[in-house]
Amino acid sequence: MDINVIYFSQTGNTRKVAKAMADVFKKAGHDTRAIGFNKLQPTDFTDADLIGVGAPCFESQAPSHVREYLWDLPELTGEKAFVFSTSGGGPGKVLYDLAKPLMKKGAEVVGGFLSRGTCYYPVPCLKGRFPERPDAQDLAKAEAFASALLDHISSGISGPMPKSRPDALKHGAGFYNIVGAMMNDSLVRLLMPKPKVDNDKCTECGWCAAECPTNSMSLIPKPIIAKTCFRCYRCITGCPEEALSVKWGISNFMVWTLYNQTFEYWLGDIQKGERLY
Ligand SMILES: Cc1cc2nc3c(=O)[nH]c(=O)nc-3n(C[C@H](O)[C@H](O)[C@H](O)COP(=O)(O)O)c2cc1C
Repeated sequence: MDINVIYFSQTGNTRKVAKAMADVFKKAGHDTRAIGFNKLQPTDFTDADLIGVGAPCFESQAPSHVREYLWDLPELTGEKAFVFSTSGGGPGKVLYDLAKPLMKKGAEVVGGFLSRGTCYYPVPCLKGRFPERPDAQDLAKAEAFASALLDHISSGISGPMPKSRPDALKHGAGFYNIVGAMMNDSLVRLLMPKPKVDNDKCTECGWCAAECPTNSMSLIPKPIIAKTCFRCYRCITGCPEEALSVKWGISNFMVWTLYNQTFEYWLGDIQKGERLY
């Protein structure tokens, strides 16, 4: 089979899962490409027998630019697909966000996989959760999922594979699904502070503009942040000169009220014995 494993990954967690799965497909003799979102062509969705689509969870859903891209795809009738994500403890509807547009375009989505990923979101109440994830065990699970996926497809049995996460293929109604449904980009922009640029520290290297997933950063010649910024704070986590910052103030408390440890244990996806720190 020709297999394209397509992924958006901001801080590398989802990319690790994508590569682990792609290696399994390659070792099994399939012509496999792992394709990052910035190198993606719409034909990458139609030129393969099997497509995997992965993205991190942002605000209990898939990042909006990924969702928009998927909803704009051409017909995918006859394609087989799977979805995957990495998240903290409140993934909400992220997998279904990836699967739904593919299904609506006519693809048969056979399964979904979720792994934990270290949280680099710089808001103080979340930063550093799930250190070193995905770890070797997580990646072994991703590989096992990829093997089971190949077995399922070669068996010729139609419908979802047994090892799929059920929340990949149908809309859930849990707490974090509701949070994900509420948090559109406009609300996030309203609640979360805009990054600020320190022009004395900035060397105009262009790192932030190149990395910004929504192309919201222009260098004129110092960075100017457009209204389309959806507060992923990539510019802050990666600026080599530490020239960008945010005053969290009450927004740290707001994030904590939704994503505190107790809620994530009771209402989120934390597994028995799994530690946040
Ligand atoms: C802007 C932002 C929002 C996030 N929101 C959530 C969330 O709502 N729920 C969750 O479980 N994890 C959340 N996370 C954690 C990421 O999903 C997790 O760190 C993921 O593994 C990052 O993947 P990447 O390294 O491929 O970008 C968020 C991270 C960022 C940067």
